[in-house]
Amino acid sequence: MIETVKTIAELRRRLGEWRARNETIALVPTMGALHEGHLSLVRVAKAKAGRIVATLFVNPAQFGPNEDFADYPRDTDGDAQKLENEGCDLLFRPDAEEIYPPGHATKVSVEGLGDILEGEFRPGFFTGVATVVTKLLMQALPDFAVFGEKDYQQLLIIRRLTRDLDIPVVIEAAPTVRDDDGLALASRNAYLTSAEREIAPVLFGTLSQVAENVGRGVDAEEQAAWGLDQLERAGFGKIDYFTVRDAETLEPAAGASRPARVLAAAWLGKARLIDNVAV
Ligand code: PAJ
Repeated sequence: MIETVKTIAELRRRLGEWRARNETIALVPTMGALHEGHLSLVRVAKAKAGRIVATLFVNPAQFGPNEDFADYPRDTDGDAQKLENEGCDLLFRPDAEEIYPPGHATKVSVEGLGDILEGEFRPGFFTGVATVVTKLLMQALPDFAVFGEKDYQQLLIIRRLTRDLDIPVVIEAAPTVRDDDGLALASRNAYLTSAEREIAPVLFGTLSQVAENVGRGVDAEEQAAWGLDQLERAGFGKIDYFTVRDAETLEPAAGASRPARVLAAAWLGKARLIDNVAV
């Protein structure tokens, strides 16, 4: 079974041995309930570095008081087996007290980028993410860390914080892994009923259609309104946002001269789905 460590001290001891032999290290942070999307990050990591460390920590700081921390899917043994099969070298699986010991008082928050879109609908979420990712990066000091484009705003926030805090790591982005019908793999897809699972691919289909139309020069705001309407008609519940943004700043898209991204978040029953597509 994959070697597992639960303390920062053990993590550092193991990584220190590898570093002493000049081996390069890539970190793959996760909250577990691993699926092919997560495993694709391990593959991206393996293409970059000699040693791969995955982390499994369901980070309480990034769940709101009314969110699904208690219900979040957990499968520790299954996750360890999948990582082992992928050729991952080490699993860091700390308890909450290891990451947030009594008296822990420091937070990392990314202003602007962290306050819009997901940040608007999930107050405190990105501060929780930024804080834990900063800590994991400082604990492991890897050469590379890999994050998925599935969580596009999160990826941009992590790039921003590593630059702002001068953390010496290269952030690698991995493309979104999808089911055959287009639905982005996500641990929370487990919340979908079979009827909702039939509707769910409409999200990616609509994002793709809007990305294509905006790419051909159709007005972005008009397309975003059309996309929102498509989701409503398909049977989605509350649609938090459906929007075309600048791919780097996530400000409203500024026309064809700059790369753009179409992003959406919408509820389907108990599941809140998010996805995004490049224009
Ligand atoms: P989690 O949702 O477990 O995702 C871990 C990583 O897997 C993230 O980088 C996410 O973008 C990536 N990922 C998830 N689904 C994917 C898919 N279908 N295709 C490609 N990549 C996918 O994101 C988090 O955990 C947490 O916020 C974390 C960064 C670990 C901090 O707690």
